[in-house]
This record gives sequence, C-alpha cells and structure tokens, in this order.
Amino acid sequence: MAAEPVVYGASERPPRGDYARANADYTCAQDYAAYTSEDHDTYRRLYARQAALVPGRACDEFLAALPFLGASDHIPRFDQINERLRRATGWEIVGVPGLIPEVPFFTLLANRKFPVTDWIRTAAEFDYIVEPYIFHDLFGHVPLLFNPVFADHMQQYGKGGLKAHRLGACELLSRLYWYTIEFGLIRQKDGLRAYGAGIISSPGELRHAVESAEPARLPLEIERAMRTRYKIDSFQQTYFVIDSFQELFDKTAPDFAPIYARLIALQGRGRMVAI
Ligand code: PHE
Ligand code: FE
Repeated sequence: MAAEPVVYGASERPPRGDYARANADYTCAQDYAAYTSEDHDTYRRLYARQAALVPGRACDEFLAALPFLGASDHIPRFDQINERLRRATGWEIVGVPGLIPEVPFFTLLANRKFPVTDWIRTAAEFDYIVEPYIFHDLFGHVPLLFNPVFADHMQQYGKGGLKAHRLGACELLSRLYWYTIEFGLIRQKDGLRAYGAGIISSPGELRHAVESAEPARLPLEIERAMRTRYKIDSFQQTYFVIDSFQELFDKTAPDFAPIYARLIALQGRGRMVAI
C-alpha cells in the first residue's frame, strides 16, 4: 500500500513531497540523482550561514558532532552519514517524502531510525518555509543523534509516542517535543546554549532564543511544557531550559499516563492552557 500525504494544520498548498515514492512505512530511498546543482548550492549556502552562527550559541555536543555530517558544500548522502552514525550510537537516518503520520514516525524512532525529508527548499524559499525539509532535519536533528544520552532519549520518545497514541495524548506529548527536541535550551559552562533543532537550523531564532531579553526561559517542567501551546510560524515566547541531557532523560523517564489523565481532565474543563 502506498503512503498517503500528510498535512498538519491549515495549509494553502498541498504537501510538496512525492508520497508515491514512499514505502508503506513512509520511508523512501534518498533520490540523490534528483538534486539539481541549484539544490546543492542552496544547501551549501544554508550550511555556511548557519555554521557561522552556531559557535557560542549551539551546545558543545552539537558543535562536536557537526563535522560528522560530512561535506558542507553539497547535500550529503544519507548512506555515508549512516556509516558514522551506526558506529557512534546505532542510529540511522532514513529518507521520507515529508511529514509522516504519528504512528509511523514514533515507530521509526522507537527503532532508532530518524526520518529525514529528502528534498530541499527552492532558492526562492531560502529564508523561510514552515515544512521540515532536508536542511532542518539534517543540520538541526542529526548531530545530536551522535550523542549517546540524547540518542537514547530519542528512542524513548518514540516508544513514549506509541503509548501516547494509545492514550489519546499525542498533542500533549508533541508539545514536549516542541519545547525540548525542537526548541530546547541547555545551560552549559559558558552560558545558555541551544540544543533544539528548530532553533539550531534557524538564523533568526538562534539569536532570539539565546540572546534576546524578550522570551521567558523556565527550567524544564514536563507538565508545564505540555500545558504550553506553541506557534509554528513565529519565534517562541517561552523556552524550557535543562542543565544536561541526562536531566532530560531522567525527567522524561517516569510514566506519563497519570500526567496525561490529569491534563486531559483539566482540558475537559477548559483550564488546560497555561500561557
Ligand atoms: N516516560 C514517558 C511515558 O511513560 C515516555 C517518554 C520518554 C516520553 C522520553 C518522552 C521522552 O509515556
Ligand atoms: Fe524538526
């Protein structure tokens, strides 16, 4: 059975990816021959812009692993990244045509496979696009998969996602994902740094998250993060801060079922959203 396209939220245009290429689990081979020289050049420019911004703003673990993505002047081959990634943490990346549904997404993570959108934005979209795409997925997410504690956390998240799906709590868990894996901050010896992929792959948000006096920065609290709605099309007003990836792992280890039950009950009474 071919995979159906997925759209989250209201969108004016259909999803870009070609879902006819995908297998039933939504993965597809990276179509390397399909990249044009403009695509490679867009990647090169995005990489160069972001690589100049991450020192002093992205966390040490990210900076240490960034070179493992390989060449920065063209789109890397997933196979080559996988040779290094499998050796480091047993993870691998798999191609997908775009956003995929919750269950296949969680299933991949639970099996230590990270889905990477294989297409790149056009030069006209250089500065902004809402959909995830290869640069965000690779540059933002993949370096931390080389870190053993973070890598284990991502797998636990996948297993927890399957459980949240059974309990009707995916929206609550997705807020936690948003405020940690996508927009998390970490306190390190030299100060506040970003580890979330949504921050690390965005030139504007990287400065806003780490340096601006505007946003609130709260210590990570699971329930609070799950109660905090997020916007996908503007900088965050609230960030949650951890002191180490071990803290993230430990804080997310307890059974979330009672938390979901409590928040869903509050939601029923219209009192769930904190901010
Ligand atoms: N401990 C969570 C649960 O019981 C699962 C989880 C682990 C969620 C890690 C997020 C991150 O549902
Ligand atoms: Fe992402």
